[in-house]
Amino acid sequence: MRISIIGSGYVGLVSGACFAELGHRVLCVDNNRKKITSLKKGIIPIYEPGLDKLIASNIKKKRLGFSSSIKEAVQKSEIIFIAVGTPALENGEADLTYIENVARNIALNMDGYRLIVEKSTVPVETGEWVKKTISTHIRHKTEFDVASNPEFLREGVAINDFMQPDRIVIGVESKRAKDLLLKLYKPLKAPVVVTNIKSAELIKHASNSFLAAKISFINALSRICDRVGADVIEVARGIGLDKRIGLDFLKAGIGYGGSCFPKDLDAFINISSKLGYDFKFLKATKEINDEQKEYVLQKIKDALWIIKDKTIGVLGLAFKPDTDDIRNSPALDIITSLKREGAKIKVYDPRAQAKSREILEKVQFCRNPYELSRGCDCLLVITEWEEFKKLDFSRIKKQMRLPLVVDARNIYSPEKLKQLGFQYVGIGHR
Ligand code: UDX
Ligand code: UDX
Repeated sequence: MRISIIGSGYVGLVSGACFAELGHRVLCVDNNRKKITSLKKGIIPIYEPGLDKLIASNIKKKRLGFSSSIKEAVQKSEIIFIAVGTPALENGEADLTYIENVARNIALNMDGYRLIVEKSTVPVETGEWVKKTISTHIRHKTEFDVASNPEFLREGVAINDFMQPDRIVIGVESKRAKDLLLKLYKPLKAPVVVTNIKSAELIKHASNSFLAAKISFINALSRICDRVGADVIEVARGIGLDKRIGLDFLKAGIGYGGSCFPKDLDAFINISSKLGYDFKFLKATKEINDEQKEYVLQKIKDALWIIKDKTIGVLGLAFKPDTDDIRNSPALDIITSLKREGAKIKVYDPRAQAKSREILEKVQFCRNPYELSRGCDCLLVITEWEEFKKLDFSRIKKQMRLPLVVDARNIYSPEKLKQLGFQYVGIGHR
């Protein structure tokens, strides 16, 4: 089938490349011309494992193309996905300017039936507005449908999440739209939830909120574990083996970040209050997550006493491993707080260094964890990259000024580090 995806960011690019891999003809569109130019040369502006190869092979098979023209997209495709960003405004509301802008541009170029699909995460009832916008700006009286098809891609494993989804969700209002989307996803063997647009929109916000709530729940438990000397990793395992709870998303630490959870919770809280419901449960989820960063900072202060003029080595800048994405990364918040206390900061991240240079000032970027640990009074592990789990700590101890490790993701064995002479600080894990 011939489809277009407007917005070639993390979601648009992965979805486009995977749809092409399934055998469809895909045009990825973006209003950032620089991005389109480099994509045409096979240069990928983001790090996502396997994406470069997938894009290159589908460009070669002429199943994947790039353009900055929405007009071209509308002329060439029957299904047009909107995958532009929906960033949070100051008050937490989702900024839907780009969605409206794209919907209007699609309408202006439509000369026959089209199915316009919301891929971006949007507050419930956005589909109504997309329909109104298209009806208002359409030039030639023609049939069209709007649908919602939210994505559940995790960065770092996005291709796998697309190709082996737990479920496909489509929110449709006509048989024609339903048949088109079922045909598009036919090659994927996964349960398909066919519902209306509003339910599909809600499924996305509800999924992310529930996942974030699980994380805040185990982070709240980590606070209690610290007070009584219990181990949050074992508590998580003890509750998670209950199939109704599940082991996933029960890793305590400095909390969640990324381009989704923080903004989706804000948007969900905001739209719920607009609908007259005060979503206290999500407010508490967000509050616990914000507190967790303060909690880690307090642990560093409790261990170092004076932060001023101390050198702190931060291992990890990305909001989680296997991505270069630093959007809402907890590392950035804690670095800001430590600098405010007068600490000298050294940083290292295997992938996110380049993106961090654009926004981090007055920190020393290091080439590896060993160069980072030289002269440090504290080694602060924020992102649980695989390579950090294999460090030679006896070598690191010789280079540090103080043998203090603050493990904000509980990836180390406290016993092992204590045997090597380190002071170990975990999160509900000691
Ligand atoms: C996506 C979804 O849009 C968001 O709702 C979800 O919560 C996370 O994933 P993401 O792909 O991460 O967001 O956004 P981003 O990486 O910012 O990509 C959006 C792309 O759309 C950018 O490349 C931007 O240049 C492009 N864009 C934006 C357009 O092409 N047209 C516009 O009018 C606005
Ligand atoms: C999330 C959702 O998982 C995905 O379905 C949705 O489409 C987009 O948002 P993503 O944000 O890429 O994906 O990463 P995810 O792996 O969910 O982690 C989100 C945050 O939660 C990260 O900051 C991670 O460090 C944190 N996290 C995750 C925990 O703190 N503990 C956990 O047990 C799991």
